[in-house]
Amino acid sequence: MDSVGTLEPFNSPTVRLERLFDAPEIQVFAKLDSLQLSGSTKERTAGSLVNAFISSGQLKAGGMVIESTSGNLGIALARQCVVRGIKFVAVVDENANKSAVDIMRAYGAHVELVLDPADGNKLAARRRKVQQLLAENPGAVTTNQYGSPHNPAAHFSSTMPEIMEALDGRLDMLFVATSTTGTILGCQNYVRDHGLATKLIAVDAMGSVLFGGESGNRRLPGLGAGIVPELSLQAEPDRVFRIPEIDMVHGCRKLARSEGILAGASTGAIVAAMGQMLPEIPSGSRIAFLVHDSGVPYLHSVYNEEWVRENLGEEPEAFGDALLEDQAAQ
Ligand SMILES: Cc1ncc(COP(=O)(O)O)c(C=O)c1O
Repeated sequence: MDSVGTLEPFNSPTVRLERLFDAPEIQVFAKLDSLQLSGSTKERTAGSLVNAFISSGQLKAGGMVIESTSGNLGIALARQCVVRGIKFVAVVDENANKSAVDIMRAYGAHVELVLDPADGNKLAARRRKVQQLLAENPGAVTTNQYGSPHNPAAHFSSTMPEIMEALDGRLDMLFVATSTTGTILGCQNYVRDHGLATKLIAVDAMGSVLFGGESGNRRLPGLGAGIVPELSLQAEPDRVFRIPEIDMVHGCRKLARSEGILAGASTGAIVAAMGQMLPEIPSGSRIAFLVHDSGVPYLHSVYNEEWVRENLGEEPEAFGDALLEDQAAQ
């Protein structure tokens, strides 16, 4: 897709990785969406959601977007709105990731903090706040990333065509992390529309309810869902992996220490899933994955020994030491 100044998401580089796995018979490619200006794949989603409102005339410069979010979508919406002269209000609760909130504020977003409700249901309290703000601000819109067709449309029209173009149309498998499932659904629609044989592998978190999963405690943001998103009912991946958080940590560290790519938890989950699947991937295959976001916001969790020890109950150093030993032996 052509870039128009800093407004639109750009065609992020797709790079060949030769050090991540010891499997020279399989070609591995990474699409670096962590380089998008707001730092994640959600730059595409947010751009598409906001553009759809602008195209339909529902949103104009001076208008307002209100969303319950403290994650990558909020950061991307804050950026997409500010460059279009649109106000952005992020409704967050007390659990919101502080660095995400600070970044949204840096982009000029107004952050509306919802205090803990008496019934303990934070999600319902945030939704009530969004409805209240919509009623108080006539003409304001909310984007509904969990159900809007403009979410997968972003990946149908940019993510997947960009990957296929970078790989000369030859791709056997694409690994995508899932949350709203907008990314994988857009890729699925493209694969079907173009009659491709590319298999789509969904990488979900242990404790996520997507694809029939069982609800459980999840600490790392980026992937997984606590309630079944409307879009996910259309998503039919060829395979689903459910990755425990400690394996996300190992996956992130493996990517950082072998390829020098510092990525977030969902990408670490993808690395873990690819590692599990590797023995059954036929020789000569070309596989690709998305680096969904950067590891910088995860320096105090995924990349912090103490956090890993206290929250996941394991020593993360083991992997790093093993890698150094491997390299010394070579
Ligand atoms: C960190 C991260 N992981 C995974 C995803 C995929 O999420 P979804 O299924 O909502 O498209 C995204 C999307 O931008 C993301 O930013």
